[in-house]
Amino acid sequence: MDLKEAAAVRISRRSFIGPIGEEDFMYLQGLAEKYSRLAEVEIGLFHGLAPCFRGFQASYGMFSGVEDGFLLGGKHHTMDHLEKLGYYGEFLVLEATARGLGTCWVGGTYRKDMLPPSSPDPVDGIIVVGKVEPRKWKEKAIYRMVHRASKTVEQMYHADELPPEWFIRGVECARLAPSAVNRQPVTFYWKDGRAAASVPDMQGLHPVDLGIAKAHFALAAGGEWQWGNGGGFIPAV
Ligand SMILES: Cc1cc2nc3c(=O)[nH]c(=O)nc-3n(C[C@H](O)[C@H](O)[C@H](O)COP(=O)(O)O)c2cc1C
Repeated sequence: MDLKEAAAVRISRRSFIGPIGEEDFMYLQGLAEKYSRLAEVEIGLFHGLAPCFRGFQASYGMFSGVEDGFLLGGKHHTMDHLEKLGYYGEFLVLEATARGLGTCWVGGTYRKDMLPPSSPDPVDGIIVVGKVEPRKWKEKAIYRMVHRASKTVEQMYHADELPPEWFIRGVECARLAPSAVNRQPVTFYWKDGRAAASVPDMQGLHPVDLGIAKAHFALAAGGEWQWGNGGGFIPAV
């Protein structure tokens, strides 16, 4: 499975049947180091996250069997820290998905006091990752509870003329991206022959959602984003 196929099949998984194997761990750890340098964000893959997820049974997103996860954060070196964290973190999600693993972004529903001692400080986001089985009824029920109806492709962009095919491909892939509480706050624009993406404001998890949606768009459309709210896209073609 390549990353585009991974984007098409990915959904958030919250019930894990075991930690990831050593080979997957080494591979994903290597990628985390590479993306950490590119993003100027601390990103590490950690074992032993189970205690962070005990005692959150009654809240948004019930997790079970969590052992491993990427911790993302650290000192904010750039204005675009949280957006880059979302962008590169989502590529890790897709890499893990392509290897048959389950993942879920976690914003706040975990115990910060139980994080491993060598975690980034602060931790701005977690991506739990682990072995998964085909979904059972309990996981499906939880999924329905937390997964709001998704937007259509048309609801996700504004265009002042017919956009090129690569733009629509990008929006279609961004539509499948995870977002906090499935709010899908990112809107894409095709204006004066140029693509851009924005969120209503850069509060809370919006910058992370912006980075995640930009990652999906870039993967399918081919090209590079300028960072920041309202940043433009430079297609590779
Ligand atoms: C930044 C971010 C934070 C999230 N935080 C949580 C969380 O704390 N708990 C949880 O169960 N799911 C969390 N999610 C997962 C979303 O609920 C999920 O992506 C959304 O409902 C869409 O579902 P899908 O990922 O299956 O497409 C988060 C997602 C994102 C992108």
